[in-house]
Amino acid sequence: MFDELAALNQRPQPFSVYTAKTLWTDMHISAQMLDFHLDAEGDMASRRADSIAAIVGWLDARFGLAGKAVCDLGCGPRLYASRMAERGARVTGLDFSVRSVDYGRRAAAGSHLALDIEVCDYLKDDLPAGQDLVLLIYADLCALSPHQRRILYAKVRAALKPGGYFVCDVFSRGQFDQREEGTSYGRRLMDGFWAEGDYFGFLTTFLYDDLNLALDRYLIVEPQRRREIFNWLQYFEPESLTAELGENGFDVEAVVDVLTGEPWQVSSSEFALIAKR
Ligand SMILES: C[S@@+](CC[C@H](N)C(=O)[O-])C[C@H]1O[C@@H](n2cnc3c(N)ncnc32)[C@H](O)[C@@H]1O
Repeated sequence: MFDELAALNQRPQPFSVYTAKTLWTDMHISAQMLDFHLDAEGDMASRRADSIAAIVGWLDARFGLAGKAVCDLGCGPRLYASRMAERGARVTGLDFSVRSVDYGRRAAAGSHLALDIEVCDYLKDDLPAGQDLVLLIYADLCALSPHQRRILYAKVRAALKPGGYFVCDVFSRGQFDQREEGTSYGRRLMDGFWAEGDYFGFLTTFLYDDLNLALDRYLIVEPQRRREIFNWLQYFEPESLTAELGENGFDVEAVVDVLTGEPWQVSSSEFALIAKR
């Protein structure tokens, strides 16, 4: 027990373990993530419904979605994808959560929208070519290591037409400054989020100040099973992310407020980049 808890408190090398898939594909956890997605008033897995409507509104004003080929990476249960299709875009939504894809397909069935939703791991599978716009929405870039980001950028570039756009949003350095290191422990930690039956959950939060990186490291101990989950969150500054996209073949045209598409203010805890291929 002592050794196990000591291990849990050891600071891992940045991005040394990748467990994000568990969060979105485990039967029990993904069911709750879907509930969070569909909570129109909450900001847990997707933003609130009014925020999503506002974001699709400025994307339409900026890019003129009607007739455009749009690929929504990590589309979840198609909350953005269907709204963009309603505005006339031809949308491909991709996600590795079978549960979300199934839900999205059922919800879109019979709608006659130009909306295709597929199971796809955007770090491994080829993306559909000929896109005018590729989206990665709700800070999904923040969960990826520098190496995974480079893989993703190459795939997005290959998917975009020349002159097409990549739009992604991220959490800012200002939000990192609000975070604190700490440990917590509880029976059925987070109200049964991690497993259907009984378990003990341990959480250690590590901050990597020089990297603007946080890790929530969970140990979930059930009667017959023991799991560790590593939730990495990279926080960004506009200058360094702009430079990173530049090194990967994109030209960043604007850094904007996620909810309005207006120029970003440094006081805001998240921002979006509009990058041209
Ligand atoms: C924070 S949620 C955002 C969902 C959606 N963009 C929204 O804002 O409503 C992240 C989504 O990305 C998906 N995802 C994460 N990594 C992925 C990967 N490598 N390939 C495909 N989907 C992925 C998850 O299954 C989840 O649906």
